[in-house]
Amino acid sequence: MNIAVFASHGGSDLQAIIDGCKNNKINAKVVVVISNNGNSMALQRAKNEKISAYHMSAKKYGCEEALAQEILAVLSKYDVDMIFLAGYMRMLHVSVLKKYNNRIFNIHPALLPKFGGKGMYGMNVHNAVINAGETETGVTIHRVNAEYDSGEIVAQTKVPVIENDTPEILAARVLEREHEFLVEVISDISEGKIILG
Ligand code: GRF
Repeated sequence: MNIAVFASHGGSDLQAIIDGCKNNKINAKVVVVISNNGNSMALQRAKNEKISAYHMSAKKYGCEEALAQEILAVLSKYDVDMIFLAGYMRMLHVSVLKKYNNRIFNIHPALLPKFGGKGMYGMNVHNAVINAGETETGVTIHRVNAEYDSGEIVAQTKVPVIENDTPEILAARVLEREHEFLVEVISDISEGKIILG
């Protein structure tokens, strides 16, 4: 299974996927990394691992449609079977969603459907969880459709919220769990336990 990972910032989730493949915990390969942010650490991490890495943005190609065509060309070039959005801060164009229907997954740092939707990303999520007085949060992996955080949930795991947690402390606990959980769930996808397409 050939995986494309899209990421915008730090890329620690990307690194967990790459390591999972290298350690044979995932029977698949990250063949290409795409970022909308030219300064993303994710691009650097890909280069360090000798994985093809592309900075692709609407600004660079003129409009969203042109970007989507370029993205589709890259995905086809690397014979991509599955796309994983690991901290990708943009909505994918409908042409990409259509072509890879049911083959695109996103990771969200909370227990969807709670704490999802537009604006619910990064520290906003953990702030909202703490402000709501939740005693548990978690990680959700879901299929991607044209609405933020609303595609079919394929896997969830819980993470405790501990008294006096700051959003930063909680974010770090959730991210650590993401790194393990990604490997478990992508492994299940690669073994056909979660169906593609
Ligand atoms: C993670 O919290 C993930 O849930 C969210 O973006 C973050 C990515 O972190 N979608 P990193 O860039 O992989 O370190």
